[in-house]
Amino acid sequence: MPVHGLTPILLCLLPFWIIPTPSSSHPQLSQCRLIQRTALCNNAKLSSVPTGLPRNIEELQLNYNHMQTLQDNSLLLYPSLNSLSLACNNLEKLESNTFQDSKWLVSLNLANNNLYLGYQETSQAFKELTGLRGLDLSENKLDDEMAATLLQNLTSVEYLNLSGNLLQRLDETSFRDLHQLKELDLQRNIIFEIDGAFDSNPKLQRLNLAFNDLPCLTDFHMTQLVVLNASHNFIDWFISRQDLNDTFQLETLDLSDNTLLFFPFLPNHSHLRNLYLSHNSLRFYERLADNATFPNSTTTVEFYNLKKYKSNVTTQLWDDGLHGDISSLEILDLRGNQVEYFPQGFIQKMPALSRLRMCTNCLESLNLTSEQFSGSLYELDVSNNRLNQIVADEGTLSTLGNLTYFNLSLNDLAWLPSRLFSSLPSLRSVDLSYNKIDICHPEEAEISTDTVSACVDWRNAVSLGQLYLKGCNIELIPSSAFTGLSLTHLELSDNTGLVVQQSIQSLSETLQHLGLGHTHTQDLDFSGFKRLKFLNISRNSLAHLPPSLLNLDLKVLDLRDNILSTIPQGLANALAPKLHVVFLTGNPFNCCQTEWFRTFETTKTINMVGQSDIECEDPVRTQRLLHLDSSVCLDKSGESIFWYILLFVPICISFMGISVIVFLTFKPTILQKSIKKKCLKPTSY
Ligand SMILES: *[C@@H]1O[C@H](CO)[C@@H](O)[C@H](O)[C@H]1NC(C)=O
Ligand SMILES: *[C@@H]1O[C@H](CO)[C@@H](O)[C@H](O)[C@H]1NC(C)=O
Ligand SMILES: *[C@@H]1O[C@H](CO)[C@@H](O)[C@H](O)[C@H]1NC(C)=O
Ligand SMILES: *[C@@H]1O[C@H](CO)[C@@H](O)[C@H](O)[C@H]1NC(C)=O
Ligand SMILES: *[C@@H]1O[C@H](CO)[C@@H](O)[C@H](O)[C@H]1NC(C)=O
Ligand SMILES: *[C@@H]1O[C@H](CO)[C@@H](O)[C@H](O)[C@H]1NC(C)=O
Ligand SMILES: *[C@@H]1O[C@H](CO)[C@@H](O)[C@H](O)[C@H]1NC(C)=O
Ligand SMILES: *[C@@H]1O[C@H](CO)[C@@H](O)[C@H](O)[C@H]1NC(C)=O
Ligand SMILES: *[C@@H]1O[C@H](CO)[C@@H](O)[C@H](O)[C@H]1NC(C)=O
Ligand SMILES: *[C@@H]1O[C@H](CO)[C@@H](O)[C@H](O)[C@H]1NC(C)=O
Ligand SMILES: *[C@@H]1O[C@H](CO)[C@@H](O)[C@H](O)[C@H]1NC(C)=O
Ligand SMILES: *[C@@H]1O[C@H](CO)[C@@H](O)[C@H](O)[C@H]1NC(C)=O
Repeated sequence: MPVHGLTPILLCLLPFWIIPTPSSSHPQLSQCRLIQRTALCNNAKLSSVPTGLPRNIEELQLNYNHMQTLQDNSLLLYPSLNSLSLACNNLEKLESNTFQDSKWLVSLNLANNNLYLGYQETSQAFKELTGLRGLDLSENKLDDEMAATLLQNLTSVEYLNLSGNLLQRLDETSFRDLHQLKELDLQRNIIFEIDGAFDSNPKLQRLNLAFNDLPCLTDFHMTQLVVLNASHNFIDWFISRQDLNDTFQLETLDLSDNTLLFFPFLPNHSHLRNLYLSHNSLRFYERLADNATFPNSTTTVEFYNLKKYKSNVTTQLWDDGLHGDISSLEILDLRGNQVEYFPQGFIQKMPALSRLRMCTNCLESLNLTSEQFSGSLYELDVSNNRLNQIVADEGTLSTLGNLTYFNLSLNDLAWLPSRLFSSLPSLRSVDLSYNKIDICHPEEAEISTDTVSACVDWRNAVSLGQLYLKGCNIELIPSSAFTGLSLTHLELSDNTGLVVQQSIQSLSETLQHLGLGHTHTQDLDFSGFKRLKFLNISRNSLAHLPPSLLNLDLKVLDLRDNILSTIPQGLANALAPKLHVVFLTGNPFNCCQTEWFRTFETTKTINMVGQSDIECEDPVRTQRLLHLDSSVCLDKSGESIFWYILLFVPICISFMGISVIVFLTFKPTILQKSIKKKCLKPTSY
């Protein structure tokens, strides 16, 4: 056989293969991996730069090692280096001549070290880095003075990361020499004041100030900035300078998770596209201002620059114009604020608006006709407000040709525009959960000519794919309610009185996700639902699993909190190879019929959620199925031995009782017989 013939040759060759890789001559090479001109020596317990690497390497990664000091001569062997990474090393300093021969170095990562200890000598080393473009100094416990010292003369740096340090106050000295700076990450410091800090950085485009202690951003005039992230501060006011004629380049402004009371005073001219204002205390005050209850309330506020009284910003708080230029807005995120209404003409000013997120505010009504949303609206989320009605005429609805995602859940909606859903040609997902709405009887909807309707219907809503109707108190779904639809998702959970009958059968060809948790579902036939992947029939008092689950291709099945005592083995065998997630807790399973559990347990692809909490009962106790002690069960029959004992004991007792009675009944004769026998015995007297 040729295979056998080869083996000795391979064995002979083996020593020759080993010899030419001389790990002994370069002791530290073994800890590094070379990929072309990149040496990867991460996580190798190194305390100094390895010396045995090829001289021409261009990138050297030494993250997660133990280098406390980078010595003057460390990099002399690698003059072509353009990228050096030393993150997570407990590094305290770089000696002042470390970079004497590193004139090509472009990128230096020193994140997560202790440079606060040796920042002065390190700053001397930095002076040689005349071509450095990217510098990461994040997580080094640097304060204002240390950072300013380190950054002196770094005139070529374009990207700088100072996140996770101890910076408090930024002024004109902080980044004075960084004339080329384009991106600056200052998140997760404790900055509370910024004063003229970026005047020397005319090229700065991306600035991240998230997670600091800033109380306000006033006099904002960085016209070249494209992205400003000031989320997670304590900002009450955002005011941009009003007297600038230039167009601001700002495209993304993130002010979420602050304490804004007013809509930000945006630049008069900008290209702002994404405005994130979620989780503030923002509302509009226009109606409050002209309310007769506060006739003398002030309508202007003056801002003083606390230190130098340099600029006073006087604003008409209630003036619409103060919103600035929002004409390019595409995303407006106002989740978690206190907005009760939109000022007149506000929505109209955003002809490109595509996503409006208003979840968790205080909207009381929404008149789509008067607001005049643009045709570009794609997502409208007004969930969790106080809406009791939505108004729109037919003409308005027909302009909302791009509206795809509409979330109306968690409101008090009792009235909706008639034919709302069939008039929106692109509508794919509607969430009406937790409202008081009913489903129209088709005949009823047909003849109605009203503009508003107390029930919903979605005839001809051919684009609709996902319909969420949780907790709407629906009890009856008209049998033809879903005819003509091609829903993939239908959520009907938490309609506690709901008896689902024939109505959903018309969706059997398309439905993939069906939620019937906490309803009154009993004997539903799922056999036609060939595409169903997700089924929730938890909290339905089911005593048996519907046999029609056998043929489904389910991935997720929620059976929690029913009264199931077992899962038939045939069904378990059929479901196990397909299921990915199954919920089974809260059922009183029978401890002696648990073969299904072993089937699921041994199928590695199933995640049995809360597996250790699945319990079973036998006549003596309730126990965890995972640690089942099945000694009380007989081997095959699956019945508890206790039943036999319980059956057997009365039989025994009855039998013994009968015996005693019989015994007592016949006792005299027996006695007599024995006496007679004794008497009959011949005696010897
Ligand atoms: C470094 O910058 C300071 C001022 O910031 C200047 O006086 C000094 O000459 C610069 N040194 C070098 C080596 O460029
Ligand atoms: C800055 O560094 C931090 C922590 O090392 C990191 O999470 C962040 O992504 C970096 N910023 C940028 C813009 O790369
Ligand atoms: C702003 O920064 C925070 C924290 O890093 C981040 O979670 C958020 O996504 C950023 N915002 C934008 C618009 O990128
Ligand atoms: C900017 O808008 C404000 C308020 O509408 C106005 O007072 C100011 O004159 C405008 N500035 C410029 C430069 O247009
Ligand atoms: C802005 O433009 C107006 C008129 O076009 C002019 O009077 C004013 O001086 C300009 N302001 C600035 C700051 O350039
Ligand atoms: C004025 O205030 C009262 C009570 O706060 C309120 O009912 C009314 O709607 C307000 N008027 C306007 C015009 O908002
Ligand atoms: C408003 O101001 C006028 C004149 O200053 C005063 O007469 C009136 O009492 C004030 N009204 C309230 C409600 O304070
Ligand atoms: C700002 O307002 C204060 C108080 O009214 C005033 O004394 C100061 O002169 C104003 N400064 C400017 C630049 O207008
Ligand atoms: C909705 O707005 C339109 C147009 O402004 C108006 O004619 C209609 O009366 C409003 N409807 C309600 C109920 O406010
Ligand atoms: C709908 O969206 C598409 C693609 O985003 C866009 O081309 C179209 O102009 C939009 N329609 C309207 C009426 O804005
Ligand atoms: C609708 O909004 C509610 C509350 O904000 C949220 O829980 C739900 O997931 C949203 N519905 C959809 C379909 O995204
Ligand atoms: C199934 O429905 C119940 C009742 O509404 C709910 O609590 C549970 O989270 C749902 N299960 C899944 C997996 O979504």
